Amino acid sequence: MPNEKDAIDISRRSFVQRTAMSGVGLLVAGDILKSNLEAETPKSSGSTMIGVPFEARERVRVGIIGVGGRGTNLLEELLGVENVDIKAICDLVPAKVAHAQKLVTDKGQPEAKGFGKDDWDFKNLTQLDLDIVYIATPWNWHVPMAVNAMKNGKHVAVEVPACTTLEECWQLVDTSEATRKHCVILENCCYGENEMMVLGMVRDGVFGEITHGEAAYLHDLRGILTANEWEGLWRRFPHMKLDGNIYPTHGLGPVAHYMDIHRGDRFDYMVSVSSREASLSEYVKVNFPDTDPKRKEKYTCGDINTSIIKTVKGRTIMLQHDVVNPRPYSRLNSIQGTKGMFADYPARVFIDGPKKEDWDSIDAFREKYQHSLWKQSGEMARKMGGHGGMDYIENYRLMDCIKRGLVPDIDVYDAAAWSAPTPLSEMSVKQNGSSQKFPDFTRGKWNVRPDSQGFAL
Ligand SMILES: NC(=O)c1ccc[n+]([C@@H]2O[C@H](COP(=O)([O-])OP(=O)(O)OC[C@H]3O[C@@H](n4cnc5c(N)ncnc54)[C@H](O)[C@@H]3O)[C@@H](O)[C@H]2O)c1
Repeated sequence: MPNEKDAIDISRRSFVQRTAMSGVGLLVAGDILKSNLEAETPKSSGSTMIGVPFEARERVRVGIIGVGGRGTNLLEELLGVENVDIKAICDLVPAKVAHAQKLVTDKGQPEAKGFGKDDWDFKNLTQLDLDIVYIATPWNWHVPMAVNAMKNGKHVAVEVPACTTLEECWQLVDTSEATRKHCVILENCCYGENEMMVLGMVRDGVFGEITHGEAAYLHDLRGILTANEWEGLWRRFPHMKLDGNIYPTHGLGPVAHYMDIHRGDRFDYMVSVSSREASLSEYVKVNFPDTDPKRKEKYTCGDINTSIIKTVKGRTIMLQHDVVNPRPYSRLNSIQGTKGMFADYPARVFIDGPKKEDWDSIDAFREKYQHSLWKQSGEMARKMGGHGGMDYIENYRLMDCIKRGLVPDIDVYDAAAWSAPTPLSEMSVKQNGSSQKFPDFTRGKWNVRPDSQGFAL
């Protein structure tokens, strides 16, 4: 087994090699798809996964690949859900596997099988008798791992973003359809207390006809990006290779739900521009000595990327990405309709009326619109604590969908479309903000399921 340093080196080397060499690399996305004016729809080798339920079962057997920061959080949340058995853990760092195995046995479960002797040992995990494989590794590993798990008959829950190129988006869709296995993107923000409540308000017509939304990931990650551990070992590399929105799904997932994307509407095209790069290089200059290798790095990703998505039903979404500026956290998370709007950070509502001048707190709507999942499990979720409780609700709900044989709330088409702004923004930025078509990952089926499907408790 590699020691911790070897494992980190392997992981980093693989990331750089993969990014540099292959068609799935972030760097080459723009080269593969020089012009995306007419997005092509490849032929499917299977029928749609829209509306396909899980096979019901009493207990869910889970394997987890990647137990760094996020994978360990997911494991802890899953260990808080009844009738979930953690059967296998894979990570390149033996100490992380051992720590995860101890969390499992501390909860009274038998020891999970450990994997991670090399980059590809996850292939041995996916051979086991498991119902679903969770993937919480660096981005370049998501698709090879998800595809391998589905081909071995496992459903997949993959961290965000699910994929980083259009080719990878299609690989997930095609594999899910061919294998009849779900590929769920673990977009925890869709399960936030406010997000689920606002979705209910949108569906009840509180804001009237929806025309516009705003979504973002605005999070000062300078310390994390430049650390010599955890995400600092891999997450800075895309900032040296592309210019665009590297992390689109936290803001976009909830707004896509408000707009019934793939449930009556779909993303049509987007335009994107980036500011110049300044903040990450200044941070590195100020905080690291001349001798630190980071001082030689050249960052290509602009500090703030702004995109506008247009949907086929004529709605617009302003989508932003900024992980390098000193500023408070925000995902914007706003939605505008003909009767009013919701905006987050802080959460507030404006409803049209004769004497209307100012915002109301969202609390005024909580009694009527708090989602039943939060009513039922909110206390437990807040106690577990992951991102204010949304992580527990996300995992509780996914396990519940599997146990009860329900259709998942979020499917492979969502995974592909919510991740696609990375390559599309890169191409648009390269072409001075030119319009980029979203592929129709549903192959024409974005309008077939009722609005209410998803969170249909
Ligand atoms: N949804 C959220 O709120 C949220 C929060 C943080 C991170 N994430 C996502 O979770 C994923 C992981 O992020 P993280 O913060 O845990 O990073 P991390 O660096 O802390 O952990 C990644 C782990 O993957 C392991 N790994 C790398 N290559 C591997 C391989 N070939 N086989 C097995 N293990 C391998 C590493 O050893 C490491 O332990 C990323 O996709 C990230 O975007 C999501």
